[in-house]
Amino acid sequence: MPRVIELAPSILSANFADLAAHAKQALEGGGTLLHVDIMDGHFVPNLTIGPPVLTSLRKALPDTIFDCHLMIENPDQLIPAFADAGATWISVHQEACVHLDRTLHMIADHGCRAGVVLNPATPAETLTDVLDLVHHVLVMSVNPGFGGQKFIRNSLKKMQRLAGMREERGLDFRIEVDGGVGMDTVGDIVRAGAELLVAGNAIFGHGDAKENARQLLDAARAATLSRA
Ligand code: DX5
Ligand code: ZN
Repeated sequence: MPRVIELAPSILSANFADLAAHAKQALEGGGTLLHVDIMDGHFVPNLTIGPPVLTSLRKALPDTIFDCHLMIENPDQLIPAFADAGATWISVHQEACVHLDRTLHMIADHGCRAGVVLNPATPAETLTDVLDLVHHVLVMSVNPGFGGQKFIRNSLKKMQRLAGMREERGLDFRIEVDGGVGMDTVGDIVRAGAELLVAGNAIFGHGDAKENARQLLDAARAATLSRA
């Protein structure tokens, strides 16, 4: 089955004083969804944004897919608020959910696509019993909390493993990768089976976000041609 490679610019590294405009540049460069990192200072050692910011972004960019990555404890408590604020996709960490099956259903019941996220130390096999419920599996290729970290190469095996599980079971969830995605890593990532590429620093960290997005997407698509 041919897979569609998509770029999800992560606004964590964008200019928060001019967020919608900066995000828009990345979309003009070929980004097809915006990745929104929500951190609570407990599950991860950093704090970012809450529902009001998403409400404003949704108004500024009404047709955009907002891919909301919840790095928070007790996600059930805030899923309704993020759905109301305009989230399109919502993903929760396996490690933060005691009742993961219930939480994934809750996301879908609020009209959003449900995703599940794995930290670098969490095996793909922990998702065996929920893979048929999710729209996407997000593989963390850094320890979550900050942009601009070094890509953890062990995560490539996890992407391959998930792609194998999907194939064996005839499922259709998408495989997303988050952390350290850049010109130097994107080829291996795509060849390992990931198709939704989150990138923050590589797009917003320097230079022109539109041009950076275009180059990264071109490199990713070129790598699909050399994929086994
Ligand atoms: C990290 C976040 C990422 C972050 C990735 O915890 O989940 O989405 O923005 O940033 P880069 O692409 O800079 O590694
Ligand atoms: Zn993220």
